[in-house]
Amino acid sequence: MQTVVISLGGSILIPGNDDARYIGRLAETIRKLSSEYRLLLVCGGGQVARYYARTGRDLGGTVDQLDMMGIDVTRVNARLVATALGDVAIQVVPHTLERAAEMCDQGVVVMGGTIPGHTTDAVAAMLAELVGADRIVNATSVDAAYSDDPRTNPGAERYSQIGFEKFKLLIYPDHDAGRSSVFDPKGAEVVLRTRTPLYIVDGRDLCDMEAAIRGRSVKGTLVSDP
Ligand code: UTP
Repeated sequence: MQTVVISLGGSILIPGNDDARYIGRLAETIRKLSSEYRLLLVCGGGQVARYYARTGRDLGGTVDQLDMMGIDVTRVNARLVATALGDVAIQVVPHTLERAAEMCDQGVVVMGGTIPGHTTDAVAAMLAELVGADRIVNATSVDAAYSDDPRTNPGAERYSQIGFEKFKLLIYPDHDAGRSSVFDPKGAEVVLRTRTPLYIVDGRDLCDMEAAIRGRSVKGTLVSDP
């Protein structure tokens, strides 16, 4: 059975727009695929995590304190997704990569963050390395990897397939609580080293997410060796 780690961006999970409907449909897709694939989901924190990062910063919180708030929010989101998945998911949110790896033969693993200093994309990349995943799916709020942010630069080039080295050049070099890019730089380093194929898809497009989980061609971007 192939193993797939899916990084679910918080911005697609809880945009505050009919979230139960989307998460319910996502759960249907994951439930269907869980009999064919070993699946591990890593949930992001989205706007709620950003709210705490912003408010905590205004209150003089340290970067570690802000990160811990973000981690708590990602774990609440993981509970929400596990609730939607019902009995195919393990209803305990693991706090470490090792615990997640131990659990992954018992059902769909749903987790959030682990320790300060990175985002859930990096958690997904490290988890994929630990379990020897066949691929990572980054389900995010943009529909592909671009040469620049397509929301601010309409001329940005869209990639359907790129190599790991070129992909790394697209990523911001710094980590800062609450800031986002197409994939966490620490996560990008891990996939660059492990050469784990990484699919970047619009998380709201569940057909594309399913294609990525199955390792088929996607409307989004495949980061891999040529
Ligand atoms: P996210 O993974 O949601 O980060 O974690 P993000 O990239 O800012 O959000 P999206 O992808 O755009 O929705 C939220 C915050 O929680 C902390 C970080 O501060 C991160 O920005 N965090 C998360 C950690 O410190 N460690 C973790 O393992 C996970």
